[in-house]
Amino acid sequence: MESLKCANRTVTDRIQELSEKIEKLKREKHAVILAHYYTLKEVQQVADFTGDSLALSEQAARIDAPILLFAGVRFMAETAKVLSPDKKVLLPEPEAGCSLADSCRAEDFAAFLKQYPGYTVVSYVNTSVEVKALTDICCTSSNAVEIIRSLPAETKILFAPDRNLGNYIQRITGRPDMVVWDGACGVHEEFSVEKILALKRQYPEAKVLAHPECKQTVLLTADYVGSTAALLRFASTDPSDTFIVVTEAGILYQMERENPHKRFIAAPPMDSTCGCNECAYMKMITLEKIYRALEQEAPEVNIEESVRVKAEGSIRRMLEMGKKK
Ligand code: 13P
Ligand code: SF4
Repeated sequence: MESLKCANRTVTDRIQELSEKIEKLKREKHAVILAHYYTLKEVQQVADFTGDSLALSEQAARIDAPILLFAGVRFMAETAKVLSPDKKVLLPEPEAGCSLADSCRAEDFAAFLKQYPGYTVVSYVNTSVEVKALTDICCTSSNAVEIIRSLPAETKILFAPDRNLGNYIQRITGRPDMVVWDGACGVHEEFSVEKILALKRQYPEAKVLAHPECKQTVLLTADYVGSTAALLRFASTDPSDTFIVVTEAGILYQMERENPHKRFIAAPPMDSTCGCNECAYMKMITLEKIYRALEQEAPEVNIEESVRVKAEGSIRRMLEMGKKK
């Protein structure tokens, strides 16, 4: 028991020491850290901005700093670089990818698009920069419904890459002419209806909150479906005091911070031994790697200029839409 306490103290001391070193480097280099809500708690704590995909891309477009360090996954860092080509954008772990982005390879997507001439291509930001370069307008889970609704009723839409989000939007907007790419996120696909129902029996007063990247059968168990930011808002404004949260479990840190008197229960994945209600890619970003990346100013994200320019158009169209609100 004593040695466990010692080990915990060593971990806490190490977090403290690294956080202080990171703060010092940030000041010296005028660097800014952006972190997604799915990253480790101690990573979110050293960030200058935490947010969902939309808030982070908006921040990346407006921040005035020579170095941006992205505590998140590759597509997020790429979005920042597309919007700020003159800044140094650091991704502390180059292997931090995304199963959803990987489910839509640019070569396959280009071939798929050839089958649908005249379609407006709407892609979720969870895609590679090459897929964004083939896209007319990007969206995130926060603004997807709004973006689809903004397109004239007769528009033929091709939505990629998440089939669950695509089908959800189609149900909500009633768009008849919408083709959806068959991709999915390995984390959100893993939730189990049976396990959520068992939790509901255990906590009958709890409200179920789910992200639209989950399967339709899972969404049917939810009291509220929304993006990361929308789930956070709902958790803070709804009077209930217990919530079953069906999305990546990292979001609980922010929910608990904003609502210290409420109870948040992370829905388990189908296989409770796999820990797959956590995104392994997001959890690759550690304080050690952030410190090293700031110190060495590497690994840096670089994008070929012709691809960047094409991708920028689709991201800026999304951001412009947000400004018009
Ligand atoms: P949002 O941040 O848009 O809710 O996306 C969730 C997600 O899966 C990010 O990787
Ligand atoms: Fe990609 Fe899913 Fe991880 Fe989000 S949670 S980064 S969509 S793998």
